[in-house]
Amino acid sequence: MNKKLIGVAAVAALASMALSTAAFAEGETVGILMPTQSSERWINDGANMKAQLEEKGYNVELQYAEDDTATQVSQLENYVGKGVDCLVIAAIDSDVLVNAEAQAKEAGIPIIAYDRLLMNTDAVSYYATFDNKGVGTVIGNYIKEKKDLEAARAAGESYTIEFFMGSPDDNNALFLYNGIMEVLQEYLDDGTLVCKSGRTSFEDTCILRWDQQTAQSNCENILTAKYADVDLDIACTAFDGFAYGVKAALQGAGYTEENWPLITGQDAEVMATKNIINGSQTMSIYKDTRLLAEKAVTMVDAVLQGSEPEINDTEQYNNGVITVPTYMCTPVAVDASNYEELLIEGEYYTEEQLAQ
Ligand code: BGC
Repeated sequence: MNKKLIGVAAVAALASMALSTAAFAEGETVGILMPTQSSERWINDGANMKAQLEEKGYNVELQYAEDDTATQVSQLENYVGKGVDCLVIAAIDSDVLVNAEAQAKEAGIPIIAYDRLLMNTDAVSYYATFDNKGVGTVIGNYIKEKKDLEAARAAGESYTIEFFMGSPDDNNALFLYNGIMEVLQEYLDDGTLVCKSGRTSFEDTCILRWDQQTAQSNCENILTAKYADVDLDIACTAFDGFAYGVKAALQGAGYTEENWPLITGQDAEVMATKNIINGSQTMSIYKDTRLLAEKAVTMVDAVLQGSEPEINDTEQYNNGVITVPTYMCTPVAVDASNYEELLIEGEYYTEEQLAQ
């Protein structure tokens, strides 16, 4: 065969491969379960995944459970009853899903865990997430550098800090907490960081279902009880929703630009980014949900079309029964210095969306 003919043959072979994949995906249904629409990130996650799967020829059903565990169980049972071909689940509290997941397995429906690990089940094939401990170390290191804790330590100075951590039924929350403490614990131990409420353990700082209102009232109580005579310098929160609650509590307590603390968050929501721009939140964690959706889609393809998904971790995510092959995306700190480059130039948000 001359070169031109080889080229034509190769193109024809590729085209028929593409056609057969599309034909395969045609008609197959993926059932997606998302936790809540009350936080913007999950709306984006669901929309991105739906769009990407549909582009590949899958039928997609997408459901949100508004952080109600019983609703999510019945949504899962419905999908299994209908006989969807594959499930993608971002759990509210994965422990309550275990029985329904076993039913899915029995019915031959593969499951992909999305962002949050599905605990205590052998029914999950793959896990697509962000490096959850990495989120914590990025937040910890941001505080360490921004406040120059090494210099403070050398000068014998200290900063006050309070913690607002994630939901105890979400495996990600403890990973995140551990990442933060890997960086900050030594400064708490030697008094460079002072937590006046004394609440530094995960048990004492976790907030069920990532509830913004609870973060606000916890912060109000702490400010009243412990910060009457001294300012809070750092609010280390694990979620943009908490940062909004803390912001409201601080405003209520009379904080101004003069004594506004460093406030961390997670997800780089539109509101959080606007707050970063106007100075009422210091940083957030940018998790590109387009990328996470893309990774999850390769896993759906893997279980339905027999392809190889990209995996970069086979050790960290043991769910109590099995260690789940995982792809971890990299979280990035976003603040006033880089939001334009990351979020606007990266086409995550438009400039108009971020207008005050
Ligand atoms: C996710 C975070 C999110 C949080 C609250 C966690 O499982 O990893 O990105 O901020 O849930 O929705």
